[in-house]
Amino acid sequence: MLDKELIKIITEAGNILSDAFDKSKTVQTKSNSFDLVTETDKKIELFLKHKLSLLIPDSMFLAEETDSSLKTGKYVWIIDPIDGTTNFVHKFPFVCISVALKIDNELRYGIVYNPILNEFFFSEKGQGAYLNNTKICVNNESDFKKSFLATGFAYNFQTAKENNIRFFETILPKVHGIRRPGSAALDLAYVAKGVYDGFWEWYLNPWDVCAGILLIKEAGGFVTNIHNNEWQYTDNLIIAGSGNIHLKLLSTIKELL
Ligand code: IPD
Ligand code: CA
Ligand code: CA
Repeated sequence: MLDKELIKIITEAGNILSDAFDKSKTVQTKSNSFDLVTETDKKIELFLKHKLSLLIPDSMFLAEETDSSLKTGKYVWIIDPIDGTTNFVHKFPFVCISVALKIDNELRYGIVYNPILNEFFFSEKGQGAYLNNTKICVNNESDFKKSFLATGFAYNFQTAKENNIRFFETILPKVHGIRRPGSAALDLAYVAKGVYDGFWEWYLNPWDVCAGILLIKEAGGFVTNIHNNEWQYTDNLIIAGSGNIHLKLLSTIKELL
């Protein structure tokens, strides 16, 4: 229903990102010296809020840079204007805009767009997941030893209860490989695309994951907390993957807790 308008707005937001990508940036820090924000993060977020409010006048926003408190309302947009800001600052092309829409508290749209690599991931609840208009589905690898995984490290890794290092160290020799490309939203989209068989990360926020969660579900995969229940905003750990690999990753992590 909203497909065309949404694709247009997010494509325009992607142009803001790609125009700025190779230029020098004004970088500020937030919670600590690793947690970066640029003028482009803010510009994209304000652009999206403006356009999406015109699309749905009674929209609420849960958006990383300007509106990060939890919202309740009929229409709630969950926005990460640039996921992979450190990559963006250093011109590493694994960056994206992540936008999800909840209607009556149900995830209805999930979009992840990397304008640098020209990858537009789109999902609508019940309608499947797409990459540049081609239907995607999770990989069917079932052997954990042959799986290809991704993870990430939170900005508070020096002070957090779990810094993810022991999980990385334990899982690494059990699989084909683990990548840490630096954009959780794209990592989830790559699970949906069937590139990664699984993904886990600690301490992610709704704007990092909501769009990717719908993409994975619509692509036939699973996204849960450590108890194998639906991931909630209050959960510290998210685990995603295709059927068998998701369960194996979950049990491997559980053994370490
Ligand atoms: C970060 C990225 C990264 C993840 C961090 C996130 P940001 O988001 O998703 O992959 O490891 O935990 O905070 O700051 O680039 O929007
Ligand atoms: Ca993010
Ligand atoms: Ca961000």
